[in-house]
Amino acid sequence: MKHCIEPNDFSKEELLNLLSLAEDMIAQPEQFQNVCQGKQLATLFYEASTRTRLSFTSAMLSLGGSVLGFDNPQSSSVSKGETLADTVRVISEYADIIAIRHPQEGAALVASQYASIPVINAGDGSHSHPTQTLTDLLTIKRELGRLDNLTIGLCGDLKYGRTVHSLIKAMSTFNNIHFVLVSTEDLGLPQYMLDELSESKNITFSTVCDIEKAISNLDVLYMTRVQRERFPNLEDYERVKDAFVLNTEKLQRAKEKMIILHPLPRVNEITEAVDNDPRAAYFRQAGNGKYIRMALIYTLIKKAEGVQLSPEVPRLRGSYSFATTRCNNPTCISASEVLYPLVLGSEEKIRCAYCEHRLTD
Ligand code: CP
Repeated sequence: MKHCIEPNDFSKEELLNLLSLAEDMIAQPEQFQNVCQGKQLATLFYEASTRTRLSFTSAMLSLGGSVLGFDNPQSSSVSKGETLADTVRVISEYADIIAIRHPQEGAALVASQYASIPVINAGDGSHSHPTQTLTDLLTIKRELGRLDNLTIGLCGDLKYGRTVHSLIKAMSTFNNIHFVLVSTEDLGLPQYMLDELSESKNITFSTVCDIEKAISNLDVLYMTRVQRERFPNLEDYERVKDAFVLNTEKLQRAKEKMIILHPLPRVNEITEAVDNDPRAAYFRQAGNGKYIRMALIYTLIKKAEGVQLSPEVPRLRGSYSFATTRCNNPTCISASEVLYPLVLGSEEKIRCAYCEHRLTD
């Protein structure tokens, strides 16, 4: 069964196929209005969302399918203590595909192990957000016409920002990518993502501490919100919440063709005056989210039916092995569900298979 848990669940060819399908859907939506007739999407949202949940809903309705689900786990039997594994087993009886958002890292992977229908990760804690990344890729392609040869600034909360983690993973399939990491020490990338960057053949990266130092070289500036909900205490959040703010003055040094992306919601990290700049692509980006999710839902449903849309490739996330030590990340799904302690990697770089935190940290 093909799922979408990580961007690397798709080969470069499959990613490009999804992007062109989304572009076809933008150009000729009427051609696709009934392709999922009779199919049902279950949206299981254990965490707040505007764009992801509603664009999934809009996507499925635009394909002629229907949608069921919950947006508040308190109104489901999760509030009575039902496990994620049992929940997705049951939902597999009612729907054809699941989109799940969960505050714990690795939750979507676990859902995919118990569901008998395709599972799409709509964001798992601070780990991954692959459908946001598909949205980002579609936006970069539509705005700049390419996905190779790019210098991309990632600014803000790189520690808890799952969209940044997924974007880095996806860009490792493209050529000649340079990331400029703009962050504070407290908000820097987690170790497993630094490992990913160091090991990638196609990516180089540098680190700076303010936007002004990097902005003139960038093709894409990817701003992020400081993720208040992920901080263990409010004091730490208050200390860093205003660390990076993009305003029109800072933009003056940027290339005329640079684009500004942001997964949204924004709080104060981009001033409203920037919205009027043609380089501000974040609302167009949110619009693209519907079409790439249409392409993804359609592709996964057809694959589950055995319809071959593009050549199958092996999963790229490596093979798991059994660990003797449990993951010590308190927000990993393995902290609350009874799961096999599975790991990826070897020796000092061994990491939890669910949330990817290093076991040696
Ligand atoms: N970009 C994104 O995931 O937005 P929501 O949290 O509103 O879904």
